[in-house]
Amino acid sequence: MSYFHTFDRHEGQLLTVGRQRYFIFRSGSGIEHMIQDKCPHRGGPLSRGRWDPVKLRLECPWHKSSWPEKTLIKMQLPTIKVNSRWTVYLGLVDPGAICHVHDIPVATIESVEHGAPTSL
Ligand code: FES
Repeated sequence: MSYFHTFDRHEGQLLTVGRQRYFIFRSGSGIEHMIQDKCPHRGGPLSRGRWDPVKLRLECPWHKSSWPEKTLIKMQLPTIKVNSRWTVYLGLVDPGAICHVHDIPVATIESVEHGAPTSL
């Protein structure tokens, strides 16, 4: 069954639908996108990754692959935004899957420090 979920953006940054997780990713331009919390490599939790605001890349915490913003944006769910009300199209979901919006911080707000390496 196809499923849409509507929520208030201010309720949180992480959406769970059954076993699937999605999170709000803020791109370098400040636009927010709902993307699957699943690294294209082996499914690591991208929401726990580290955002590099200079290179515009998100580093996965599992194997350190670094994904360009363009790749992440291509992973976004179709979303209708009316002020803070978001309606996301989740596609097919398991019957009985429960949707929750979680107000927990995602790690993409962290940034990678840039600077000269310390001398040895
Ligand atoms: S699962 Fe993300 S880099 Fe391997």
